[in-house]
Amino acid sequence: MKRRVLIVDDDAAILEVLEMRLTAMGLDVTATTDSARAVEAVDQGRFDLALLDLRMEPMDGIKLMEALHARQPRLPVLIMTAHGTIETAVDAVQRGAFDYLTKPFVRDELRAKIRRALSARRWARDRERLLAVGETFASSGVMERILDSVAQAAVETTEAERSVVFQLVNGRLVPMASAGSPPPSWAALETAASQAIDKGAPVTVTGAESRVIVAAPLVVQRGPAGALVIETPARVEPTEDDLDLLALFSSQAAIAIRNTHELERLRSGALAALGRMATQVAHELKNPLAGLRLYARHLEQRLDDGGDAGSAELARKITSTVDHLAAVVSEITAFGRQPELRRTPTALAPLLDECVSLARARCPGEGIEVTCEYDPACPEIEIDARELRKAFLNLVLNGLEALEGRGRLSVATTWSAEAGVVTVAIDDTGPGMSDETLARVFDLFFTTKPEGTGLGMAIAKSVIDLHGGELSLQSAPGAGTRVRVRLPARAAAASAS
Ligand SMILES: Nc1ncnc2c1ncn2[C@@H]1O[C@H](COP(=O)(O)OP(=O)(O)OP(=O)(O)O)[C@@H](O)[C@H]1O
Ligand SMILES: [Mg+2]
Repeated sequence: MKRRVLIVDDDAAILEVLEMRLTAMGLDVTATTDSARAVEAVDQGRFDLALLDLRMEPMDGIKLMEALHARQPRLPVLIMTAHGTIETAVDAVQRGAFDYLTKPFVRDELRAKIRRALSARRWARDRERLLAVGETFASSGVMERILDSVAQAAVETTEAERSVVFQLVNGRLVPMASAGSPPPSWAALETAASQAIDKGAPVTVTGAESRVIVAAPLVVQRGPAGALVIETPARVEPTEDDLDLLALFSSQAAIAIRNTHELERLRSGALAALGRMATQVAHELKNPLAGLRLYARHLEQRLDDGGDAGSAELARKITSTVDHLAAVVSEITAFGRQPELRRTPTALAPLLDECVSLARARCPGEGIEVTCEYDPACPEIEIDARELRKAFLNLVLNGLEALEGRGRLSVATTWSAEAGVVTVAIDDTGPGMSDETLARVFDLFFTTKPEGTGLGMAIAKSVIDLHGGELSLQSAPGAGTRVRVRLPARAAAASAS
């Protein structure tokens, strides 16, 4: 039987797109712009999932969610937000939403979150984690792209020669995005921008060669965040309409900037909360574990003395399991703070082989071909093998997981003696990544997999950075993924401290 999904959004265009996508996912979709209708629909029959827009009139998404929950208490709800603040989104989650989605939708994320909501229905998920998920929106790549499209749209609709979005950073105006031809004078544009900011309203000034410059301030809650500036040839007189359009675009850009600001704030808060939780858990576990270990050793000794070799062996197993637990606990405490690297000369080939066989065991598949090709000239390099194993294991796992049972994964090393650098290449013939996924791939908790945690790439990058190395990705939909890790053979003097 098809799963039933209810979508409510007062924007008919978005509704249509979502309805199409979800129908293509094999879901039975009921879509409406009217919240009263939505309530009626739930009165008439059970749904498996609801996607609700946050900002709606007369009933917003949260009120609607509460109305639906009064009728079907455990209905998983995904709240969709575009202009809403992240706080409201977090609030939504705390009031019973399963998760939230930001517009514009990233296709893979949309699909993963819907699958997750449908399959697991994990109702009471860890709220700290949900808070931290907000950080995935903070990726600056996304903001820059929005500002770029604002600049582009400003040029196209106003017949301007060029358009620049300035952002106010520490009291200085920084050009963040531009479209059209390069300006003859940045100074003139910047002056217009700061006039608009001072005035708090659009200004028109005359630029070089009697061009006309129009600047509109970008205003966010806390005050001006920058300005959108266009420059037109002298013969084009900007009309009222142009000014209105510019004001509209500048409000778009302001939203992008505001979201980024808020998320940065949230990011630090969420990470701190995660850190506190980790320390607390470790604190609770460490002492009893040490006690357990002591008792087990004691028991081992007694059984040895009594000549009961079989039971002594069992006691030894307890000790080693406890040791393992203690190691896990220290791993948890280490999360969030930078590990001290313990570098020793290490051969990469066996380390990579180990990662490949671990990953193969976790991700088998008859149709997968794995090839390893190591440069025999590659010397031992000074690395922390434990840390790098985590990084490579995740990179190889991601490659195998991407293949979904069919395709080729290749792992190779090359040694460049002049540069003193080893390059590890991990390539897969999987589906590759979209631009949106690529832009967020290193964000903590970003995942497109129903069972993923979204930690792998973030951890891999931080480990490789710590080694003074570089992690780069090349990927496009349909073209597979190439991962390159460049590692210096010797620890740099600075990173040894
Ligand atoms: N080789 C790859 N091919 C295609 N997509 C990839 C590849 N590597 C990473 N990704 C994308 O990047 C996302 C984040 O990867 P990351 O390793 O951080 O988390 P994850 O694999 O989803 O979860 P886990 O925490 O279990 O590793 C993945 O969900 C996937 O969408
Ligand atoms: Mg992963």
